[in-house]
Amino acid sequence: MSEHTHGLQHGLTNYGDRDFSLYLRRSFAQSMGYSRALLSKPVVGIAYTPSGFNNCHRHFPELLDAVKRGVLAAGALPIAFPTISLGEVFLSPTSLKYRNLMSIDTEEMIRAQPMDAVVLMGGCDKTVPAQLMGAVSAGRPAVMLVAGPMMTGRHRGERLGACTDCRRFWARYRAGEVAEAEISQVEGQLAVTAGTCAVMGTASTMACIAEALGLILPGSAAIPAVHADRLRAAEATGAAAVQLIGSERTADRIVNAKSVENALRALLALGGSTNAVIHLTAIAGRAGVKVSLDDLNRLSDSTPVLVNLKPVGNGYMEDFFAAGAMGALLRELKPLLHLECMTVTGETLGERLASAAAYVDRSIIAEREKPFEPQGGLVALFGNLAPKGAVLKRSAADAKLFEHEGRAVVFSSLADLAARIDDPALDVTPQDVLVLQNAGPHARACMPEAGYLPIPKKLAQRGVKDMIRISDARMSGTAYGTIVLHVTPDAASGGPLGLVRSGDRIRLSVKQRRIDLLVEDAELKARAAALKPAPMQPERGYAKLYAQEILGADEGCDFAFLRPATGLP
Ligand code: FES
Repeated sequence: MSEHTHGLQHGLTNYGDRDFSLYLRRSFAQSMGYSRALLSKPVVGIAYTPSGFNNCHRHFPELLDAVKRGVLAAGALPIAFPTISLGEVFLSPTSLKYRNLMSIDTEEMIRAQPMDAVVLMGGCDKTVPAQLMGAVSAGRPAVMLVAGPMMTGRHRGERLGACTDCRRFWARYRAGEVAEAEISQVEGQLAVTAGTCAVMGTASTMACIAEALGLILPGSAAIPAVHADRLRAAEATGAAAVQLIGSERTADRIVNAKSVENALRALLALGGSTNAVIHLTAIAGRAGVKVSLDDLNRLSDSTPVLVNLKPVGNGYMEDFFAAGAMGALLRELKPLLHLECMTVTGETLGERLASAAAYVDRSIIAEREKPFEPQGGLVALFGNLAPKGAVLKRSAADAKLFEHEGRAVVFSSLADLAARIDDPALDVTPQDVLVLQNAGPHARACMPEAGYLPIPKKLAQRGVKDMIRISDARMSGTAYGTIVLHVTPDAASGGPLGLVRSGDRIRLSVKQRRIDLLVEDAELKARAAALKPAPMQPERGYAKLYAQEILGADEGCDFAFLRPATGLP
């Protein structure tokens, strides 16, 4: 038998006799009805993630057929394999807890099974970062196919899309502006097709970042899930995976300091999700690249917001697709990008972008000289309340609150928030600063998207739409407001956020990039000494692994033992 290993010969099961291992593997593979001719071909594995608990991946069976025909037509054998799938709204306490588990599953199954290249099929929020983290660590040739966004629904003549409009209508319902009957009609119009959330939320942001990194086919990030072009992209992705075989275009090489900077530029120009900062930090970390919040600020100062999509603007992903999508955006950003970066097709980013865009709808994608906003959508804040940083999506915030000092109204946990936020007796005014503690990565809650604290009902009913809110939690990419997130270190790991008490003064200065607790150091030291931290100590299973290994938001909430052995600079 040949010593040259490809296809099913990769990584043989160890029985102490290589030829016997191969004979046995072929024999079992033939039980699946493959011909010997097909079994001798190179293999493209397909990390396949449909799930009854993942509505966003509902169309994956059809997409899989298209990927397979692309692989077969290009001369290789496609073999799909399952990994866990993370459907954002079906997971408790939060999908972030399981992102690293999915990345481990993906990495190990790519490495353990015989494949020459892999197609990663993902889409819903945490699935794309999990698969990219796994693929970078596995170090095999990999190309991603994203699910694509949902189409919008209709309600009384208005377009609706998950999930910015979910929040908008819910806020109006809480304020008494929308009746019970109407909110249940709206519920049926928010998510009306397969695919990921219809706005520039986390899933769409991560799809666009994957395109900026060069890990998906050009032009494929924004194709709607149900569009025929999505099937053509799937077929082309299968063919591209075959072209990757034997190449050095592995995910760990394509993700490098320069391509990560390109991705950060894209994130800022998109006015993309704050979650993407955490995920990109984790993906880059697997390749040994450090993403610092100082870098984010440096790039944010010189990257304009060019995209007009909800939650920052008006449009939906279907509009972005029709407007020219990532190709048009990256062409606008060209002078700011590292064009020499290699992409998964073997072209450099510059080669991908060499031709002019065929058509660009300027109401959705602006020219760089006429941006929607002159600076990037995200800004990092530091200060005595967030020594290792925090993130504010300034493009989705109220600029009138950017320089503000107010009284803290503190909620010590999610349960405390739920119990008191709507209490008519809550001592709160619109000028106050709402603070949520113990919702960070080290808390039992595992950093849920709870940073979008609701406006207290009694203020919402008076028409208050925004207030400064601060937490160590995350926020959905589809949400908006003057919301300071990812405060690091988090309260549960001893960060100063845990020392804030109701009545303290807090100062936010976006101009100075600071968030400060205006309390004397001596008093903070006394409070810290009196604090009795209650770290999570699960007794067994994945929860125990999570508690032992979880890193802070500044390190992408990855697990310490999954970082490269050489460590990060
Ligand atoms: Fe899957 Fe929003 S719930 S992308």
